Amino acid sequence: MKNNNVNRKIAIYPGTFDPITNGHLDVIKRASKIFDKLIVSVAINLSKKPMFSTIERVEMIKEAVKEITNVSVDTFSGLLIDYCKENKAFILIRGLRAISDFENEFQMALMNRKLDKNIETVFLMPSEEFTYLSSSLIKELALLNGDISNFVSGFVNKKIKEKIKC
Ligand code: COA
Repeated sequence: MKNNNVNRKIAIYPGTFDPITNGHLDVIKRASKIFDKLIVSVAINLSKKPMFSTIERVEMIKEAVKEITNVSVDTFSGLLIDYCKENKAFILIRGLRAISDFENEFQMALMNRKLDKNIETVFLMPSEEFTYLSSSLIKELALLNGDISNFVSGFVNKKIKEKIKC
């Protein structure tokens, strides 16, 4: 099945990334090896109340991926499938950490497919050492003075500490 309106080699990895963790980075590295171009896109206007602004989240992702040449960082608002169309991309990357992720991811993937039959969601499993990570858990740990240095980059660690001091 050929669709000339879409570029099959561009993948989009959408998420809140509040902030990016080593688990997200693991997924980004895996996807960047499979696809020609990967766009990591920060969702704005979500019901979530992020600790970091969109600009800060983008800055942290850019710092994390600066050595991966085929990865770019962007933002989107509104429907994800519309953003995919704008970028002529039909592959969505999502990380699957554990069975508990499955139900929500399954619903999103099928809804996106229902909204646009060209959209294909590809699930990648991060390394097992990251399967229990989430951005909320890291923020909670940092707020309680826990050591988060194994879970985020030095840059993100510094940004979280600055944010907590404010
Ligand atoms: N490593 C670490 N943490 C990970 C992870 C990984 N590999 N994969 C997921 N997570 C965590 C995130 O840190 C996040 O944790 P948090 O809840 O503590 O912040 C959680 O899993 C969910 O993360 P995320 O990937 O950011 O998904 P989301 O549910 O926040 O965002 C969107 C999902 C943005 C893709 C979705 O809401 C969307 O598409 N919105 C646009 C509107 C739209 O089109 N809606 C219709 C969709 S069917």
